[in-house]
Amino acid sequence: MTKTMRVGEILLTEEQIKSKVAELAEQINRDYAGKDLIVVGILKGCFVFVSDLVRHLDGDVQVHFMQVSSYGSGTESTGQLQIKKDLSVDIAGKHVLIAEDIVDSGNTLVKLLPMLEERKPASIQVCALLSKPSRRQVEYDPDYIGFEIPDKFIVGYGLDCDERFRQLPYIGVVEIED
Ligand code: IMP
Ligand code: MG
Repeated sequence: MTKTMRVGEILLTEEQIKSKVAELAEQINRDYAGKDLIVVGILKGCFVFVSDLVRHLDGDVQVHFMQVSSYGSGTESTGQLQIKKDLSVDIAGKHVLIAEDIVDSGNTLVKLLPMLEERKPASIQVCALLSKPSRRQVEYDPDYIGFEIPDKFIVGYGLDCDERFRQLPYIGVVEIED
């Protein structure tokens, strides 16, 4: 049976996202003034966010990516973190800022952060465009948060449902009908 998916309510417009990303970058520029920064995007959901965020960043910035997976094709975390693509840069002694699309259960970051800390970066912080605090299975909050959103499965601005809707310039709530 094929499921019909469509985007219903628009949760965040293109304009709202745009001004929030600029605001986040302003904070990051202030906090990292005079420091070299390695931005690590967590693929694939981060790709639009990272490309918008880094274009507002000053100073010496490198952009790298990792791919991990904690989701299959559904909407629930499997609880297992799999590294699909590791970093191609040594982060020892570097200031690292992880860019995530969304923090949901928190499982991805609580597993990923200690692994990266073992590589002895000078510092490591997380900037998440979105956070769903009511969905946490572990105690964790990112250092920078764009928007706190309710417990709804959302798509657009890089986020997908079964690989669809990443291209939308806004963030909307996905509706699945059998
Ligand atoms: P966590 O490990 O449960 O915090 O989940 C993190 C990852 O799950 C995110 O980086 C997303 O890729 C994915 N995810 C969580 N909630 C949503 C959503 O509402 N829409 C699309 N992807 C989501
Ligand atoms: Mg993600």
